[in-house]
Amino acid sequence: MSERRDPSRRGVITRSAAVGGGIASAVMLAACGATDDAVGDAPESVPSGSVPVADVPVGGGVVVDATETVITQPNAGEFFAFSSICTHQGCSVSRVTADHIICPCHSSQYDTRTGEPVAGPAPRALTPRTVTVTETEVEYS
Ligand code: FES
Repeated sequence: MSERRDPSRRGVITRSAAVGGGIASAVMLAACGATDDAVGDAPESVPSGSVPVADVPVGGGVVVDATETVITQPNAGEFFAFSSICTHQGCSVSRVTADHIICPCHSSQYDTRTGEPVAGPAPRALTPRTVTVTETEVEYS
């Protein structure tokens, strides 16, 4: 009796393994896809967005937390945009003056036109974003 059960159990196990293997393969493919999009050595995805021109003060700027972007306008009609992630330890910059983008964590300061560090421990420039200014919007990507 037990010998008759064994072959059928093996059959079930074999089918389950095949189905399980198929599922495992699908999961592995899905996991590989998710990993490629989320982390690793893949290039940083650059968030895009826009803000009304009126929201970017002359002699200052605005930090858009949702897209990790800081937009500056050192002089009227002169716009720049950078990643808002500080190159020191990854805090978000929080304030913009006419000349400096300031990180609150360890007081790094960046030039509002170039994103280059000018004070504090930041080792390199903020990553620049592309800016397009329309009549009413500052678009960045
Ligand atoms: Fe910005 Fe340290 S994280 S200065």
